[in-house]
Amino acid sequence: MARRRNVSMKERERFDRVAPPQQPEQRRLSVSLTVICVTAVLLLLTALVLFLFLFLFVNYHDLLLNLNPHHSHNELDLSSTSPTGDKDAVVNLDHGDPTMFEPFWKESGQKSTVVISGWHSMSYFSAAGAQLCWFLEPSFAKEVRRLHAIVGNAITDNRPVIVGVGSTQLIHAVFFALSSSSSGEPNQQPVPIVSAAPYYSMYPGIADLLKSRLFHWAGDASTFKEGGNSSFIEIVCSPNNPDGAIRRAVLDSEAGKQVHDLAYYWPQYTPMRGPADEDIMLFTVSKATGHAGTRIGWALVKDADVARKMVKFIEMNSIGVSKDSQIRAARILQVVSDGYDLPDSKAFAWLRCDDESIKDDCEGFFKSMKVLTRSGKHFGAGPEYVRISMLDRAHNFNLFVERISSSRGLG
Ligand SMILES: Cc1ncc(COP(=O)(O)O)c(C=O)c1O
Repeated sequence: MARRRNVSMKERERFDRVAPPQQPEQRRLSVSLTVICVTAVLLLLTALVLFLFLFLFVNYHDLLLNLNPHHSHNELDLSSTSPTGDKDAVVNLDHGDPTMFEPFWKESGQKSTVVISGWHSMSYFSAAGAQLCWFLEPSFAKEVRRLHAIVGNAITDNRPVIVGVGSTQLIHAVFFALSSSSSGEPNQQPVPIVSAAPYYSMYPGIADLLKSRLFHWAGDASTFKEGGNSSFIEIVCSPNNPDGAIRRAVLDSEAGKQVHDLAYYWPQYTPMRGPADEDIMLFTVSKATGHAGTRIGWALVKDADVARKMVKFIEMNSIGVSKDSQIRAARILQVVSDGYDLPDSKAFAWLRCDDESIKDDCEGFFKSMKVLTRSGKHFGAGPEYVRISMLDRAHNFNLFVERISSSRGLG
């Protein structure tokens, strides 16, 4: 026992020499040091994660911009100019993004706010399930008919309303419907699609995107050679994007089928000339009210067979159209109808550069002023033309006006 006590005493002495007992202050100091070190490491890790996130976000954003066909012909940062941006900012008047209506909708406050409960609109089908367009929200159809009746820009009697993911999906759907024969003949020639230049720059891309065997883009309707009884599709945009002209079909043959894109036939863009009564008419809330992000368009179609095929296309393409968006669009249209009183303006300016030094590249001329426009080349016209969107926020438009007022070269 005495020996063991001796040994442990010795061990204790040795231990005390190596690690003398800590005083309370020393212990507190070492605890604080540990806390500081752990905090520093945590802060470093957080900074690293943040840095990585920002790096990936910026690159992803760039990637998205590069993938967008509207952006590929520009090298500058093409995102919309910020509402409070600095005087030197790039003014992006390339797309027709209708942000100019924001102040109007801000003022409308609660009237245009929509609340959708978690259990609402869960089914693929709408209450109008038994109808031809089985995914159409009845409240949306009702407000479409009501607004057309108040504005007097289209006849809606005896035509179903077909809702689409923007009128872009309806353009795809109508190309399909007008070119697919009911018998489904496999060897038919692709149907040519034409529109008089300058035409909306998306038509060629929409027509040729899938390299369909049913139809193909055939360019300017004014120079199109009709081939006897061979069918073709003419798309008529009125008022026209980009030049705002009031248009009729330029081809007049039994074999041709016409689609009327009336996206801008609203009194805020052009004087009303009575209700349109065409066989196929396309409209969109993107331009009617400025809600491009809601992605809702509608078609009024006389022929039941064409309407059925359009619905089939949307069924195969997206199994219907967001109910939430339709409900929101219905409320927006209702607010417009309830307080119908809108200002007069135009959606786009179609400009020509006459000066010899810039007429070969009018778009480049504006770009040198940090103003992004879309060249006439994209509309089947020459590079001396540009389309300038007038749908942007007032702040950006004022920047644009300031810059051109101090330059020369426009005809
Ligand atoms: C003439 C025309 N048609 C159709 C569209 C597409 O509209 P949406 O947003 O409904 O797809 C646009 C959009 O700029 C347009 O200018």
